[in-house]
Amino acid sequence: MSTFTSSTVAVPGYRAIPRHVAIIMDGNGRWATARRLPRVAGHAKGVEAVRATVEACARRGVEFLTLFAFSSENWRRPAEEVSVLMRLFVSALEREVTQLQKNGIRLRVVGEISAFEPRLRELIAQAELRTAANQRMTLTIAANYGGRWDIMQAVQAALREQPELARHPELFGEQALAKHLAMAYAPEPDLFIRTGGEQRISNFLLWQLAYTELYFTDAWWPDFDAAALDRAIESYATRERRFGRTSAQVAAATPG
Ligand code: IPE
Ligand code: IPE
Ligand code: MG
Repeated sequence: MSTFTSSTVAVPGYRAIPRHVAIIMDGNGRWATARRLPRVAGHAKGVEAVRATVEACARRGVEFLTLFAFSSENWRRPAEEVSVLMRLFVSALEREVTQLQKNGIRLRVVGEISAFEPRLRELIAQAELRTAANQRMTLTIAANYGGRWDIMQAVQAALREQPELARHPELFGEQALAKHLAMAYAPEPDLFIRTGGEQRISNFLLWQLAYTELYFTDAWWPDFDAAALDRAIESYATRERRFGRTSAQVAAATPG
């Protein structure tokens, strides 16, 4: 069960370094096309940007980093591209987990992973188990994830657990649902980053982004690095997170 403050139930605490950063890694295909390379070359290069971003976030004291790797709508892509993405996921798990382990990073995967091949599911389970005790940072990969899927499965799980809620819907509170969300183990994202120039959520963490600060950059994901992350965090640090209150109230509540 989640022990974190819901932003719509109470005002969460504030830190200049976001506790939870969630990223839509977009622009791999356009990065490759601009170089006259096949789209998949962009995805391969994107894995390097993932490595750099994971390391940079851990160094800066981010506690949760969530990366959107494959959406429930990405199955609509050509079969060839989907299969390359799956192969990249497999090889990244095979190669990177040792480093995550060394760096004290816990890996979790959220999404409907039952749709994946047995080999990939097996690697995910192994990586999660192997890194389960790590506490420095939790890296979540959202794979075959959709925000609507998450809310739907949480509603279904809540009703399965407490069938009486169907007869007394007025008892169905926020927490009854939130505790079944795939990322109930994490606070809501403080900072959302989307690379690639598009300004949309694309069915990412719909419930949890209620009060998240949004940051969009035109940089393509393969070009994203520690310096780009720092620019996003600097922008975040200038935001006034009011959570429905007035500026004067925020000032009165902020120590120093
Ligand atoms: C993001 O890059 C990676 C995935 C969605 C898997 P894209 O592949 O969407 O790149 P663009 O948007 O076509 O440039
Ligand atoms: C969002 O990127 C999903 C991931 C980054 C995994 P897309 O490139 O698929 O998003 P849309 O379709 O352009 O909104
Ligand atoms: Mg895209």
